Amino acid sequence: MSSLPKWNPELCVGNRQIDDQHRRLLLLGEQALGLLKENSSMAQFHVVLNDLADLARKHFADEEQVLARNHCPTLDEHKAEHAAYLELVTEVCYQGTQNHPDRAGLERIVSEYLNHHLTETDMKCKAFMKDKPGFGG
Ligand SMILES: [Fe+2]
Ligand SMILES: [Fe+2]
Repeated sequence: MSSLPKWNPELCVGNRQIDDQHRRLLLLGEQALGLLKENSSMAQFHVVLNDLADLARKHFADEEQVLARNHCPTLDEHKAEHAAYLELVTEVCYQGTQNHPDRAGLERIVSEYLNHHLTETDMKCKAFMKDKPGFGG
């Protein structure tokens, strides 16, 4: 089973809103993995998964806005990665509603987005995630 990095100062990008969203995404990912391990009820699992999907959707939109404002040169690739993860999250949520917890899909969300994307792709763009005066919060 994949594991997640614990929230720590090294994961900070220096933007309060983005950092808070990343921290909450990691917590939800951990909760979802925990529920799968415990074989908890599908209803519980689905609630957490839906929260994860909602937050991911909002987070990607917010982060893309910040990156665009700061003229991040890799914005297009970054957006493409976000879109691919959203598709995956949507699919895993759908499987959840069909009472088939998609363990492999959830592992991909955890290892590819919450782990790889957040610790590598986002970190490479750290310089472009700062708040501009008049924005953020
Ligand atoms: Fe992010
Ligand atoms: Fe990102």
